[in-house]
Order: sequence, then structure tokens, then C-alpha cells
Amino acid sequence: MENRLLLKNGRVWDNQLQQWVKRDVRIEGGRIQQVDAELSVSPGESVAVLDLNGNILTPGFVDPHVHFRSPGLEYKETIATGSQSAAKGGYTAVVCMPNTKPALDTAELMEWIKEQGEQAGFCRVFAYGAITAAQKGQELTDFASLKSAGAVGFTDDGVGIQSGGMMREAMRRAAHLGLPIVTHSEDETLSGSGCMNESEVARRLGLSGIPGVAESSQVARDVVLAADTGAHLHICHISDRLSIEAVRFGKTIGVRVTAEVTPHHLLLTDEQITGADANFKVNPPLRSAADRKACIQGLLDGTIDMIATDHAPHSDEEKQRSFAAAPFGFVGLELAFPLLYTHFVRTGQLSIERLLDLLSAAPAAAFGLPVGELRPGGLADLTVLDLNRLKQVDPAEFLTLGKNTPFVGQELYGWPILTIMDGRVTWQETAHKEVQG
Ligand code: NCD
Ligand code: ZN
Repeated sequence: MENRLLLKNGRVWDNQLQQWVKRDVRIEGGRIQQVDAELSVSPGESVAVLDLNGNILTPGFVDPHVHFRSPGLEYKETIATGSQSAAKGGYTAVVCMPNTKPALDTAELMEWIKEQGEQAGFCRVFAYGAITAAQKGQELTDFASLKSAGAVGFTDDGVGIQSGGMMREAMRRAAHLGLPIVTHSEDETLSGSGCMNESEVARRLGLSGIPGVAESSQVARDVVLAADTGAHLHICHISDRLSIEAVRFGKTIGVRVTAEVTPHHLLLTDEQITGADANFKVNPPLRSAADRKACIQGLLDGTIDMIATDHAPHSDEEKQRSFAAAPFGFVGLELAFPLLYTHFVRTGQLSIERLLDLLSAAPAAAFGLPVGELRPGGLADLTVLDLNRLKQVDPAEFLTLGKNTPFVGQELYGWPILTIMDGRVTWQETAHKEVQG
């Protein structure tokens, strides 16, 4: 017997009927065997039976933007702790950013990440290769060898590519290989040493500002470079309203441009910053109410294609520094679904089907990543969500090593209670443990 599971009483979205239906699902060897209204254990069959009690059963989440910090920064996160955190958040696949120490700029390092992910076994771990050696912006890496080692795209996330000439050449090479250029859009001559959004709030707090145009001017540049080169351009963590306009323009003229937005840019603004707590410091920074509204609008009208967490763990010591001195970043994997479900689905702004798609099929399609499918033969990468479960955000419960979140204490609905990757249980809320058979 290998990986045999029978899931009873799941609530599954039926795309043909356009409604939620009760289904039982049989899984064997990493694949879905049967999906039916009623399935039972045959006499003599050895299978683990899990009663989902009418909770949502849906394809596992796919995060195209996580920082697992290995190699070199394991005090912040490891591949194992990061992927456990992902499984707890309902994720079955993630893509790691290359801003590690050293940066993921060689085939050997790409292979190493893949092996670490497989050894940990909690989710499918992919990675982007760096665009430039050591992410220094000076010379391009060997895209072809990074691709053959498994890179799903190229990025210097954490820093912007300052030179337009460098970016154009990177896009030409990526287009030739059929992989996306994934950009952290930031013109350093505009962002300088800013630590929060350039705004009235920043002036009042006496903190140095990062203007929205530090992002949007580079997004606009890259959209036209993508038109010129035919590359697939993916914009990371979009946050400024003019960036969204630039993506919208790109889409109308037929540029292959996709964009992601984070839960925090959909939910928070710079007005929440007091300057006393660096757990509100992130890059790109929390922006104005108008920018936040544009992010929501862009997501609703399809300009923004998907939701990514930008899971960026840091140590307590680092985040306890002053607002100016602390590093940028929030953890995200364990809170993404409850945050978005509570604030967008329960409030009627977004349907649950659409939210699930933005967290799963949409990113998988853009990057050609594996994703669960609730049909016979589909990949058994699934998650179960208890929409009625209400819980307070408590970093002490996190599996990620990072406790850095601005959402501490929020009461949220809709928590993942079971995650299955490759037909195996990778996370199970113990209160719901109910294995028989
Ligand atoms: C990221 C990090 O910590 O690596 N920080 C962040 O605030 N988002 C870098 C990045 O994604 O830009
Ligand atoms: Zn970034």
C-alpha cells in the first residue's frame, strides 16, 4: 500500500455546475483516482480515511514569491521551516527568491535548493535564478544553465535592475529560453535610503520616504522593454497605482505582462505606521489609501493576475531595531488565506472561487507550476479550509522561524486544517485529526 487516502465529505467547486458540491475523493500514489458523491472502503482495502466534515477541499495554494533564506541566512528561515510553514498555510508549491547568501546564481545552487526541498518533503520547492551575478547588477548569469537546473524564471528580487540596457538584454535571453523575467521594480535614484512610503505620514514621523514612482517608473520602463523584446514580464509585489496603470497599458497593447499583489498591500496603508514598530516595514512600503484601493481594483478587474505572499522572515533581533535600521519584510504563508478570506470574501468583495483561483491555478498557469486538480488523474496537491474556524493571529504558533507580521492579534476566519502534497498529508490541524481505516 502506497499513499492511499480516502477523503470523505469534502465540499468541492464544480466548474460545470458552477456550484459547491459534496464529494468523496480517493487518492493513490500522488494522483486522484476517483471523485464521486459517495465512495467507500472496499472489503480488505487498506486505506486511511479522513472525514472532512463538509469543509472546503480545493487545489493547494501556489506561492510564486517566498524567501526561504537558505543558503547562508538560516537564522531567519530554512528550506525545511519555510516549507512546513507553507504546508500549514495550505500551500503545496512555492518559488524561492534568489537573494540568499550566496545568491542563487549558479546551476549548482539551483540543484541544491531542489534537493533541500525534496528532503524536507513538505511542499514542492522551486526557485528563480538570479538575473545578475551575486545580484550585483553588473553581469548577467548563465540563464541556459540555470534553466537546465530547474529555474522557473529570473529575478534579482530584493533589488531593482538599475540599467535599462542590462534589463533589455536579460529579457532577450529569457524570451529566447521561454522563461519569465520577474522584477522587483525599484529605481534606487528615486528610493534612496527611504524606509517607508513618501507621504504626509512619513513627514510627520520624520522618516525618509520612498516615492511610488521609484516603483512605477521602472514598471513602465520594463513594460515597454517587454513589448520590445517579446519577453514574459512578471511584476512582483505591485503596490503603486501608477504601476498598475502601466501593467494595464501593457495588457491593452498585447505585452505578455503578469503581476502579483501581496495580502499586506491589499489590506494595510502607511496610515497604520507609527514608527515605533518595524513589523510594519516592508518593501515596497505600505502605501496610501488610494494605492491600496488601486491594488484591490486591479485585482478585481484582472489587471493583477495573482496573489503572492512575499514571505520574508527576519529574526526578532533584526525587527526590534528602529524603523530606519530594521530590514524590510513580513512573513506571509500562514496568514494569507485567513486574511484574504476574512477581509475580502466575508465582506462580499470577492467570491471564494475567485480567491482560490488567485492563490492557486493563476500563479501555477503563469509559471507552468504543478497544481492540484479535483478530477481523476489530477495531481493530489490539495488543501482543506475550515471557513468557520475563528482564531487570533499569534506568532508563537507559527512554524516559520520569522515572527515578523503586522497582523498580530487580528481575529480571522478561514484556516487551513489539512494539506496534502503528492498524495501525502503534509499538515494537519491536530484538533481535526480523525484518521481511521
Ligand atoms: C524582501 C526580503 O526580505 O528579502 N523584503 C521585503 O520587504 N519584501 C525582499 C523583497 O522581496 O524585495
Ligand atoms: Zn521584492
